[in-house]
Amino acid sequence: MPAINKQKKLYIKTYGCQMNVYDSERMADLLKPLGFIITESPEEADMVILNTCHIREKASEKVYSELGRIREYKEERKLKNQNMVIAVAGCTAQAEGEEILKRANYVDVIVGPQSYHRLPQILAEIERKTSQEKGAGRGILEIDFPLESKFDFLPEVTDIEGVTSFLSIQEGCDKFCHFCVVPYTRGAEYSRPVEDIFEEACRLVGKGIREITLLGQNVNAYHGTFSNSPEEGWSLGKLIRYLSNIPELQRIRYVTSHPVDVNQDQINAHQDIEKLMPYLHLPIQSGSDRILKLMNRKHTAAYYLEIIEKLRSARPDIAFSSDFIVGYPGETDKDFEDTLKLIENVNFASAFSFKYSPRPGTPASMLDDQVSEEVKTERLTRLQELLFKQQLAFNQSLVGKRISVLFEKTGRHPGQLMGRSPYLQSVYAEASTRLIGQCVDIVITKASQNSLTGTIVIQEKIAV
Ligand code: 5AD
Ligand code: SF4
Repeated sequence: MPAINKQKKLYIKTYGCQMNVYDSERMADLLKPLGFIITESPEEADMVILNTCHIREKASEKVYSELGRIREYKEERKLKNQNMVIAVAGCTAQAEGEEILKRANYVDVIVGPQSYHRLPQILAEIERKTSQEKGAGRGILEIDFPLESKFDFLPEVTDIEGVTSFLSIQEGCDKFCHFCVVPYTRGAEYSRPVEDIFEEACRLVGKGIREITLLGQNVNAYHGTFSNSPEEGWSLGKLIRYLSNIPELQRIRYVTSHPVDVNQDQINAHQDIEKLMPYLHLPIQSGSDRILKLMNRKHTAAYYLEIIEKLRSARPDIAFSSDFIVGYPGETDKDFEDTLKLIENVNFASAFSFKYSPRPGTPASMLDDQVSEEVKTERLTRLQELLFKQQLAFNQSLVGKRISVLFEKTGRHPGQLMGRSPYLQSVYAEASTRLIGQCVDIVITKASQNSLTGTIVIQEKIAV
């Protein structure tokens, strides 16, 4: 009889972007064959993974306070003769692995975003190691960028719940924006092969997934190949077209795009493919050409507006979201006004905005003319006021309109379901639970800053 692994509990806390959410799910899949099941309570966990984010200082600092809390659980378990393996994964692990081991010597494992597929071997190594001093960690550091791709070592996606899913198609970044740590923490750009993506998409759809969001740090730089013709790189547009042939797949999204990689294939996909949602997250960061240049973004504000126009001509109902950074080193009042002007010009459906946060090792962090915290706060407040106003106006513009909603789960009130509009807004409507997983036409009756409410359109009976 095959040996049955004793059930062990795994607690994963995820910080940061959707890519980390995807990676956390893959780590859970990897550890499942070793007997690990997910727990929501860190104090009863045999293994804790903190999947960290390094994008801004605040995100990174959270790791240390959380580690302090986890350490206490580890000590308590030790008193009961129970073990706890503490692992730190993700971008802070990649960037500050040695520092973490110094500051928190009770950590057992550090794994980077491109090396976590080695966790099973690392755990085996830990088991071989003799028992540790009370509370001490094993201090294993696994942050090389391996030659192999982690995707070749990840097991099939198994734990599939719900009706929407992420699917990672591209990773890493070669753009080196001067404020950003991603090229250092996630490594060079890499595109997964077309057939691997297609197989994963089919598997997801087979398990009930109806909407897939294709993920990549630079998703529209996708250039994977198909094994039949390894010399021909596929564009994101071509890949979306191919995936749209999966019959039960109803919706496709992708995130995050870079303006300089927007190409005609991508624009055409928005024009022709009904399943591709008319919503695009296209970060610009600043509306000032001077700041864009300092940031090494490789395009101007006018170029960005041109792309927006092309996409609107191709797909008139498309809406946009973006990322903005305020208080970049050297940003003047005039530069900031240019950003506000660009926002007025585009009219965004939603957006994320941040104060510039100097990150160790990046060119921008070494610049002298850092903007004061006070000015950053004031600019962020003004920028967000404008963006929130646009978001509310966009939501209100849908009142009285009929839109398609993919129902995902039960809502806040009895008899209510929650779903998403094509623009990712949460939509609430009275509906039967058998409609979960279906796209249903809804007439919007109410709009607020963060959600919409509507009623199901009764299908008109066709006279025979
Ligand atoms: N400071 C502030 N925001 C940043 N971002 C990336 N790096 C920094 C930084 N150093 C923002 C950008 C990016 C988003 C994911 O995070 O807007 O698009
Ligand atoms: Fe960071 Fe720029 Fe790459 Fe985006 S494009 S991940 S902001 S370096």
